[in-house]
Amino acid sequence: MRIDVVSLFPEFIDQSAGYGVVGRARERGLLALQGWNPRDYAAGNYRRVDDRPFGGGPGMVMLIEPLRACLDEVRQADPAPAPVIYLTPQGRPLTQARVRELAALPRLVLLCGRYEGVDERFLAHEVDEEISIGDYVLSGGELAAAVLIDAVTRLQDGALNDAESAAQDSFEGEAGLLDCPHYTHPASHAWGEVPEVLRSGNHAAIARWRRQQSLGRTWLRRPDLLDEAALSKADRKLLEAFRAEHAAKGEGQGG
Ligand code: ADE
Repeated sequence: MRIDVVSLFPEFIDQSAGYGVVGRARERGLLALQGWNPRDYAAGNYRRVDDRPFGGGPGMVMLIEPLRACLDEVRQADPAPAPVIYLTPQGRPLTQARVRELAALPRLVLLCGRYEGVDERFLAHEVDEEISIGDYVLSGGELAAAVLIDAVTRLQDGALNDAESAAQDSFEGEAGLLDCPHYTHPASHAWGEVPEVLRSGNHAAIARWRRQQSLGRTWLRRPDLLDEAALSKADRKLLEAFRAEHAAKGEGQGG
């Protein structure tokens, strides 16, 4: 996959994508990442990339022309068609379902804004999609782009060492549930015991317990996800049992 990022801080993108799964994917040639600075395409000695907003008010707005010239260059670097995605709190909230779709594309172009934003005419003409990573405001799109890059890269074939681990993540699997709890050594610790079933060697019982924990956690923490989830009859039974046990322990939902 190829990802081009238009940003006033291309070094930030390069460095943030230098570690762990994403760094390794780049080394393995699974991800080609390139940053492009609109300042390099700005005219005049000052290489101006922003100006004051019409109508007044605080902050600066990114100019059309440096962005347009930069994007032209990005397009010429590779003829493969690619959606241009603008990272903004006004965008559609990013979900794992959208991450999966984007991860299947051969190329993405990400646009990071700074200051108060980008001239609306540039967005109207050049941007295919606006994405938000959550209902909070960052100082620019770079961190949001880094989040998107990480999420799509780990889904590339060969990016993860254990092919299983992506399939079992939260939101993966057809029901879109939260992940179950995980434990490692020691089995016994001052802060508690590892659940017996995980040490039983009974793979069917372990799979059932994990599924039940996923269902139960989703019910406790993100009941909105359960409304959307396609649960089987067996799932409903497992969740029923989880809820009964939870009620017997006297714990309320949300605990
Ligand atoms: N830029 C600033 N805040 C953002 C957010 N929440 N999501 C995506 N891009 C942003």
